[in-house]
Parts: sequence; C-alpha cells; structure tokens
Amino acid sequence: MPLRPLTTLAILLLLTAACDRTAPTDAAPHDNTTPAEDAEHPDPDTPDEEDAPPQEPGPECPTTAAEPTAVFLTWQSDPTTTMTIDWHLTDEPHRTSLCFRGLGDDQWTREVDAVEVPIPHLERRVFRAEITDLEPGHTYEFQVGDFARVYRLETMPSSIDDEPLVFAAGGDTQHAPQFFELMNAPIMEHDPAFIAWGGDLAYADGGSHPDHVQRWEAWFDVIHRTLVTDEGRVVPILAGIGNHEVVDGYYHRHDDFEQTDEWREEVAPYYYSFFAFPGQPGYGVLDFGDYLSLPFLDSDHTNPVDGLQTEWLASVLQERADAGFTHIMPTYHVAAFPSHRDFNDPIPERIRTHWVPLFEEHGVRLVFENHDHTYKRTHAIRSLAVEPDGIIYVGDGSWGVLPRVGDSRTEWYIEEFVSDFHGLIVTLHGDDFHVRAINPGGEVLDEFGTAH
Ligand SMILES: [Fe+2]
Ligand SMILES: [Fe+2]
Repeated sequence: MPLRPLTTLAILLLLTAACDRTAPTDAAPHDNTTPAEDAEHPDPDTPDEEDAPPQEPGPECPTTAAEPTAVFLTWQSDPTTTMTIDWHLTDEPHRTSLCFRGLGDDQWTREVDAVEVPIPHLERRVFRAEITDLEPGHTYEFQVGDFARVYRLETMPSSIDDEPLVFAAGGDTQHAPQFFELMNAPIMEHDPAFIAWGGDLAYADGGSHPDHVQRWEAWFDVIHRTLVTDEGRVVPILAGIGNHEVVDGYYHRHDDFEQTDEWREEVAPYYYSFFAFPGQPGYGVLDFGDYLSLPFLDSDHTNPVDGLQTEWLASVLQERADAGFTHIMPTYHVAAFPSHRDFNDPIPERIRTHWVPLFEEHGVRLVFENHDHTYKRTHAIRSLAVEPDGIIYVGDGSWGVLPRVGDSRTEWYIEEFVSDFHGLIVTLHGDDFHVRAINPGGEVLDEFGTAH
C-alpha cells in the first residue's frame, strides 16, 4: 500500500527541516523575572512586611556560562513531590550543585549537591540530583552548575478530580534527529506535563563506537532544544527500554546472559546510566499520588518477560489494584498485539501468556506498545477476544522513525491503523481517559477514550 498523503507530506517537511536546521545556539541567559512574579511578590518595603524578621540569606549561586549542553528531568519517586534533574556539560565544572527556589521567590532557597554519573565512552559529563519534599502542583525554578539559565519544573497535582492531567506517550523516537524534532513541535502545542516513551530512543544499539555515542548526544540535544517551553519549563521524560538500547537487542542472543546488574549494564551501558528511572533491573513502576500508576516493562531486552519480572509485575499490579488506583497504564516496547510484525512471534506470545492475564485481572484499561513503527489501536480485548470491558492496546511506536506501510486491519484485534509518524496526547480526568494520536502536522489521526 502506498504511503498516505499525510505521511508523504510529513517526509517532505522533514527533508525541509533537515536542510533548514540551524545549530543550537548559546542562548543568552533567560531573564528570570516575569510580570507575574512581580505581581505575586510586592516590593519588600511595603508596610505589610516591615515587621517580618530579617530573612536568612539564600545560597550564593555564582554562574560563569550561559547554559548547559543538555538538561533532562525524570522521576525516581512520586512525581507529586519530587524531581530528578540531570545536566550535561562539556567543560570542567566549577560547581557541581544546583540552586532551587519556588516560582516567585526573590532568592535561591536551596542548594542541592549533585553526583556525577559515569557514562562510558562519552566525552560530556553528566551530573544528577534528586529534589524531594516539594509541594504537589507547584512551579519551581532551578539553575544548574555554573550556568546562568533559569529553568522551571512543575510537580504533578495531588488529584485529577478537578483539573485534567495531560501527558504525551509514544516510542521509537530517533531514526534521525530531524524526525525526532519534527514530532516534538506539535506535541509541545499540547503542553504535556511529561512524556512517556517505550523504548528505541536514540537507536544507538548499546554500542561504544563514536557514531553510536553521538546518537545519544544528538538525542539529548534535541530534547534540550525542543522540549523546553518558552517560559523555561523542562518537560520530564520517562524512558522504557527497547531493542535499540541493547547490544544485539535481546537477552537471548547472548550466550553469556545472566540476571545480574553487571550483565545488564554491560549490554545496555547507556540506558542504565543516562536514565535514573527505572534503573536496575530495567523495569519499574512510578506512582502519581493515588491516581496514576505507570509500570515500565522490559520485553526480553535485558530481562526475560517471564520469571522474575512477571512475578514482580503480579505483586505490583495487585498492590495498585488494592490501593484503588484508577489509572494503571503499562508501557513496554514489543507489542503483544502487533500491527506490523507477526501475531505468533515468540515475544508477543510470551507477553500475552504472562502479562496480559495480569493486566486483565487487575483493572488495566489502556496499554502503550511500540516497536512496529506504525499507528494502531486495538479493539477492547479480554481473554483474546473482543469484549466491551476489555483492554485497549495503543501504539506502535513511530514518533521519530519512518513509518512502515501496510494495513493490519485484517487482524481480528486491530480497530484502527495508520501508517504515519505519531505521538499520543493522553488526558486523564477523574476516572476518565482520552487519547488523541497526532502526526507532525498536528493532525488528529485517531481519538478515543472513556470521556465524552
Ligand atoms: Fe524501533
Ligand atoms: Fe524496536
């Protein structure tokens, strides 16, 4: 089947973007005083504050350069009260801490020491700090290392009963940095609170060749250039593992496979060092207050689907179901219900055997899948049949990779199929979820959910 006209348009746009692309600039430090701040924080000489005790001076935060090479936010703990901040630099650092304050504070209130994260074969240096004890639904400002640029971060709300939470999801992000960048632009129009990607990130294959390392550098540079809002808010990212994070893609292609941290780090050195979450053993779960739980799973890349990981998943899902989480949305790379590859391939079959029954048992309603480089939405599925109260599987990972052609609607489980680049805009409000798949032109390819 020929590419859809839209896909052709998207590729033309990509090629244009590739030609026009300008190098990242050493932007001047952002002015960190906004009219809104002025309004919220009147002049300290006003009568109301005359009797206030003298304020302790905040930490000194001298800066010597404009902005770091890259900044990357993620979470290791509850996103309503924490944030993990990484920054990358290419020079020798003078200062290895970050300064932090609430939006509107007129001086820095906290200085937090960072640790250096060793990244093999990489010339740039990476520092990491986790900020804890934050207020839910608040905006904060921070400044990293020696750099003057002031960034913002937002903690997630404590509840989604009144205001909806909007995030983006997808996977397979970078055949070429230009593709990656082109999809990020319409996603940012929706102001996502965070992005969840299910593997095949930089397509660096875990290798140590300079070309592979440079793919990671390009990936982080695109994020720094395109996933920071005009106000300086950095969009946090949750990154699952895919075959292109791993030497030879899958654990069973390695004769020396062993289920240890050392072995996993050896075959996926960048994934385990660049991303604080999920960290070892390569799968993990992130709980947003008591309303959203996101398990990130490893579909046979550095851990078998079955065995220890399935046992862990069973207990995680049981605990979240018992705790009353409304939204439990697993993310992983290889699709259990593929839209390009064969339904009877061994990994999809293993996922359907070991994970899908657990999803069905514990109230999962939506699952994010990737790897096939197509857009699909399945019918609602339960016990391998179309059922109204079943689970919808959406994917299949073509954020920044060339979409594969075809039309898998002939498969019993596929309800919608499109061959196009796409990212998912997911809106959660109370018990409802709503999903829109959009392409680089911002066109809505598909839309579904429980909300009306
Ligand atoms: Fe891929
Ligand atoms: Fe893949």
